[in-house]
Amino acid sequence: MDFDVAALIQAAFSAREYAYTPYSHFKVGAALLCKHGKIYTGCNIESATYSPTNCAERTALFKAVSEGEREFSAIAVVGSLEGQKNTLVTSPCGVCRQMLYEFGGDDLIVILAKSLEDYQITTLGELLPLAFGPQNIAQS
Ligand code: THU
Repeated sequence: MDFDVAALIQAAFSAREYAYTPYSHFKVGAALLCKHGKIYTGCNIESATYSPTNCAERTALFKAVSEGEREFSAIAVVGSLEGQKNTLVTSPCGVCRQMLYEFGGDDLIVILAKSLEDYQITTLGELLPLAFGPQNIAQS
């Protein structure tokens, strides 16, 4: 990796502190690394009406895109129930995979972390094979 994996995971853990989760109590943090090196973080934000809930990954992505970013190299995700250590990795939901694909494509590196030392690395191409994306809509 040509970036600091532990620093990206740490940023995701820090973002998780802000998760607003009065309904699920499942707190998620994400840290999205831009190609030029800046990191945008996000947490999940829930709603009393449930469905408008925004995942941590999309919070980070929307923050970044709304500030002019379009190119990303990696995202780290951490999640666990409030007050508990995670026994399973938290992997982006289907909606987040699709939205990350829009900007990251197959090559986006996805780091699923339980701790700074315990993580697995995959790619969006592995998580969302044969994705439908901007290339399908583009005019020839
Ligand atoms: N959640 C995320 O923020 N990211 C994921 O990758 C999986 C799920 C959130 C949504 C909801 O607030 C809570 O976790 C339980 O589903």
